[in-house]
Order: sequence, then structure tokens, then C-alpha cells
Amino acid sequence: MNQPLTHGAVSVAAPEYVQNQKLIKWVAEVAALTKPDHIYWCDGSQAEYDRLCELMVAAGSFKRLNPAKRKNSFLAISDPQDVARVEDRTFICSKHKDDAGPTNNWVAPDDMRATLKPLFAGCMRGRTMYVVPFSMGPIGSPIAHIGVELSDSPYVAINMRIMTRMGRAVIDQLGSTGEFVPCIHTVGKPLEPGEKDVVWPNNPTKYIVHYPETREIWSFGSGYGGNALLGKKCFALRIASTMGRDQGWFAEHMLILGVTSPEGKKYHIAAAFPSACGKTNFSMMIPPAGFEGWKVTTIGDDIAWIKPRHDPATGKTRFYAINPESGYFGVAPGTNRKTNPNCIDSLNQDVIFTNVALTDDGDVWWEGLTETPPAHLIDWQGNDWTPADGAAGKKAAHPNSRFTMAATNNPAVDPHWNDPDGVPIDAFLFGGRRSTTVPLVSEARDWEEGVYMAATMGSETTAAITGQVGVVRRDPFAMLAFAGYNMSDYFQHWLSLGKKLSASGADLPKIYCVNWFRKNDAGQFVWPGFGENMRVLAWILGRVDGNAKGKETVFGICPEYQDLHWDGLDFSAEQFNQVISVSKPDWQAEVQLHSELFEQLKNRLPGEMLAVRSKIEQRLGS
Ligand code: OXD
Ligand code: MN
Repeated sequence: MNQPLTHGAVSVAAPEYVQNQKLIKWVAEVAALTKPDHIYWCDGSQAEYDRLCELMVAAGSFKRLNPAKRKNSFLAISDPQDVARVEDRTFICSKHKDDAGPTNNWVAPDDMRATLKPLFAGCMRGRTMYVVPFSMGPIGSPIAHIGVELSDSPYVAINMRIMTRMGRAVIDQLGSTGEFVPCIHTVGKPLEPGEKDVVWPNNPTKYIVHYPETREIWSFGSGYGGNALLGKKCFALRIASTMGRDQGWFAEHMLILGVTSPEGKKYHIAAAFPSACGKTNFSMMIPPAGFEGWKVTTIGDDIAWIKPRHDPATGKTRFYAINPESGYFGVAPGTNRKTNPNCIDSLNQDVIFTNVALTDDGDVWWEGLTETPPAHLIDWQGNDWTPADGAAGKKAAHPNSRFTMAATNNPAVDPHWNDPDGVPIDAFLFGGRRSTTVPLVSEARDWEEGVYMAATMGSETTAAITGQVGVVRRDPFAMLAFAGYNMSDYFQHWLSLGKKLSASGADLPKIYCVNWFRKNDAGQFVWPGFGENMRVLAWILGRVDGNAKGKETVFGICPEYQDLHWDGLDFSAEQFNQVISVSKPDWQAEVQLHSELFEQLKNRLPGEMLAVRSKIEQRLGS
């Protein structure tokens, strides 16, 4: 967007409602470095959002979809070189390398600043710099924090309005002395005078940089998802995890859902899964036949901020969680009326689609949306596409194509999703995508075993990570790509906070490991998943209430066939055995793999991890 905004609000000076001198000074400094043609302070209004969308349409960067099909919705198509988070270009620049730890890319802060300075010098020439004030969490919540993103991408400003509480209300909350996390983003493609912009500006050189000690984020060269919407992975996970370590709380890669029983009892679950393991589906789940009267509601689909707080109802300290985001940036492929009906119903209006295919009648399509693809599409790269192309393996939508939608679009949004106090957590779930070894569900005997289960989680990767599918990697707490500090210290933080709170009589959530993805010898999924996961949830809630049975295994406590509620599903004891079995030879091999992870993390690995491993080994030996 090389033209000034046409809505007459272009000004270098901050609007007069901005009282925070630190913010005003910082914006001026960044502008002096990056040299945008214009500075625009986002107020977060609907009118502003509509103008920015129109601007994108005029520039050819957005296509307005057929309003009869998708009201007030748009399609953006990215550069094929800019389609996913770039983990190999993501850096944690703590002062000491050991504080970033062996699972993060590290560069000394001074060296990184020396590299970035020339890249950022003049990087916004010919463009508008958007000042995007945002709150992660309900504005004013004791669990929330504020950030300000300076970006030369209107796509970012538009998406940030959906994904965060964005605009003037945040500036008002900041007042004259409030603290904010400064986030600087550029697509890294300055324009020469008169140069025509491209549809998706970006730069082959990419840097996603975090300075945890000074709590700053600098992002260069990408306009896509978590690389560019800096409230999400960069702030709400990498920077916030270090804030949580320092301040005694957790910033986690977890969905949060509410479950209400037919008797009206409400529970809350926070669940961590690696990218694209069906988190959005799980968080919007509809209970299946056999669970009439049960209700599942969504608080968040990706990130949870969790702080200990006094529960007036029980008189005990409990973990309360908020969803710091206000929208979902979900993976489109595979989403359909069967896998996630609530999501399909959420996508009818006010949605930004990125890298999905376009139908001839101005609607969108992606692999898995319908059983039979349309006879003709324009694929995500702008080419004609027919089912014959699909049969030849050519995807119409990019496997990491996305929708951005407001949480309020979700018909199952929880009445407390926006509650500044958050919701009290009853159980933590950790689940990877494992075709073998890991049982459908298993309860940790205590907090340490739960931390061990989460720390040793492994998963077969999907497109959200690198565009590659099917590679198995260890993903502790589903935070491998998101912990802003040394992973061993992160395990220690979980252990120490749990220990401290339980010593003071707090009511800690139980911890579970789940795996929806076990396959049989023919390579087929055995567990039906999706809404049927409610059966597992119901067992977990029974355990929380102390009235569901389970059996000790080498890896936690698992239900037996008769411990689950089977009404409405034809699933035999033999099938159940295929998803719940904990085989000693498999676990002997698995523990070896845990040891490989511990070897990598050995520098600061908490002794508790080795102690839990020894107990598993003893059980395996007995
Ligand atoms: C996401 C991810 O986009 O985890 O949520 O990659
Ligand atoms: Mn995620």
C-alpha cells in the first residue's frame, strides 16, 4: 500500500487522546528508523476496518467474496514463499545463550540489533506505518497485558482487529504511564518513488526476533500469521512465557473449553496440542449421541494465560485462565460440517480467508470442505484447478491456509469467554499426534508425573509447522516453538509453581495425556475422534469429581472399557484395547526417546524428570 490512506486521518503526530509519552516517543523513534511515508494510529472502529479492507481490495490484495455466500468476507493470497511460520528464522535473543536453551535459535542481543538495524533502516519507505494498540485479554483484566504493534501491513492491522482487542480503548487503558510490549513489524519491502506495489509484499530474508529481557519483538520480512500478527505466538507465548516465569504464572499453547453437565455443573479444561492437531475442532466440539444434555463451550482455541487466584467459592487458590486472543486464526483444510459444525457456522460472515481456493461463484473452498470438490476453482496460487488436478495431488488450498474470525462468530462461544477474571481450570490435557504407543487417555498420578507427561510429549508434524507433513518430533508441552526461554527452566517453572501452590493448600488441576490418533496395523485411525472425544472428557470429569474408575499402568492411570460411557457409539472392547493399550516393548523404546530429549536438555534438566523416568523404568522392569 504505497498510497496514503484515503480516509483523511494521516498524520505524523499522535492523536490528542494519546497521553503515553513513552509510546509517542517510541513511535517517533521507529518512524525515524523505518521512514514510512505516513503514520496511521488505529482506533479499532468498524468504519476503520471497512476502509482498510476496501483499501486492500483497491490494491488487489483482497478479493471481496460473494456477499450472498460470505457476507463482508475477503480472500487474501500470499506469496508462495510466505505461507507459514518460519521456525528456523525465529530467534530468542536473551543475554545468555543458556537462557534461550538448546531448543531455541539464539543470537546475542547486541549482535542481533547490529544485524537488524540496517535491515529496518528505511524499510517502510513508500508505505504507511500502522500503530496498532492491542490488549491480550479483556481490557483491564488482571490477567491481561497490553502491546503496541507498529506494522507497515494493512493486512496485519485488519487481522489484529479480529485477533485482539485493538484500538483506542487500549490507549485509554494505557493512560499516561501504562506499560506495553513494543512490537515492530515490517514486510521488508520498501517502495521506490513511483514503484508499483505487489499483492503480497515480503522479503526472502526473514527474522522473527524476541528480546525476552527487554520484552521487545522485531519481525522482518514476512506478512503471514504468527510471523506478523505479533500478539499471537510472539507476545502471547514467547514473551509472555518469560513474563510468567518471572511473575509466577503460565502462558501456554492451550485451548480452553467449558463443559456443562446435564445437572448444570460447569467444568473448565485447558488442553495443549501441537499445531494443527485439531485444537480448534476440540475447542468447538459438539457432544455426540449418548450425551444429550451435555454442553461444550469455547473460551479459547489456541492460547491460555493462567494465573493462580483465590476462589471465593472454595476458599482455595486455583488456576484461572483467560484466552488472551479475541479471534481464531484456524487452519482451513479438513474443516467441514462433520469435523467441526460450529466452525462451519462461524464462517458465514466477517471472515478473512488466506490461501484457500476461490469458487466460480465467489465463495471459498479447501480440501475436505465437501466430499466432492467443485468442478472448477481458482487455486491458492491463482491458477485454474479441476478435480483432475486434485487427483494428481495438486492442492487447491494451501495445507496451511487459514481463516481469521472473531470469537463472537462462534455459536458455541462460552458466556465467560471475555470474563476479565478468567475461568477456574479443573484439568490440564496434553496430547500429541501418535499413531502408536501413547494411550487414548491416561491420568498422571501426581503433578510431577503430569509435568513429565507434558515434557515428553511427541507428535507427528503437519503443515502448520514447516509445510512438511508426517515427521515425528518431541514437542514438550506443545511449546517447542513457543517457549521464550530454556525448556529445562520452563519444566522447572511448572514444577516449582505447582509445588509452591500445593504446599500452600491450593487446589491444583489434575493432569492428563491424551492421544486421538492411534492407528491399527492397517494404518487406519481406530478412535473416531471429534465429538466422540466427549467420552474421554466425561471420564476425565468423573475423575475430577472422584467417581470414575481407572487402572494403574506404566504410564499413569487409564480407564478400562467399562469405565467409559458408550451409549450412541458402536465401539468394541477390542477396538478400545487398540487405543488404550500400553505395551511394555513400545514403552521401553519410548523411554529411550525420552532419554534422548533429556540428553539434549541435560544442562538444567530438573531432577524430578529423571526421578519420574526411573519410576516408569521400574514399572517396565517389574
Ligand atoms: C497456530 C500454530 O497457528 O500453532 O496456532 O501454528
Ligand atoms: Mn497454535
